[in-house]
Amino acid sequence: MERTLVIVKPDAVQRGLIGEVIARIERTGLKLVALKLSKIDRETAHTHYQEHVNKPFFQGLVNFITSGPVVLAVFEGPNAVSIVRKTMGATNPVDSVPGSIRGDLAISLGRNVIHGSDSPESAEREISIFFSPDEILSYERAIDNWILERD
Ligand code: GTP
Ligand code: MG
Repeated sequence: MERTLVIVKPDAVQRGLIGEVIARIERTGLKLVALKLSKIDRETAHTHYQEHVNKPFFQGLVNFITSGPVVLAVFEGPNAVSIVRKTMGATNPVDSVPGSIRGDLAISLGRNVIHGSDSPESAEREISIFFSPDEILSYERAIDNWILERD
């Protein structure tokens, strides 16, 4: 089953939005399979954001993501990556539609509340940076037949 990494970024933790952000993703029906409060160190931030290493905003991005606690989560389900990206909204809150997390809760590109993996391949790489296999749980929910079309 597809998985994706979600980071509730330091701005959202400071603003008391952890529950709001996680709840919006939970309500999609995706299954929460890993969760922790953590502080990302600079080396890990470089690894996580390696695709942006040559961008002009890279130092600012690393400074921001390491500036305070974050919540790291793994969600699982069919098309988990796309479902979370849709729920997050566009990268720049100016462009994210109302109803999306960034559209409703953010106004700045560099303080945009949430990270979500951008492809299943990115998700596998990113999840392995922050979680060991034994931290990712496998379990059934009694409600799954009302969420997943399995037949
Ligand atoms: P993430 O989920 O955080 O990875 O966002 P994303 O996938 O929607 O965007 P992307 O990976 O392209 O960029 C990573 C982060 O860098 C974004 O969330 C922004 O906070 C920041 N960022 C992206 N583009 C710019 C830019 O042009 N200027 C600045 N200042 N920040 C940017
Ligand atoms: Mg990205």
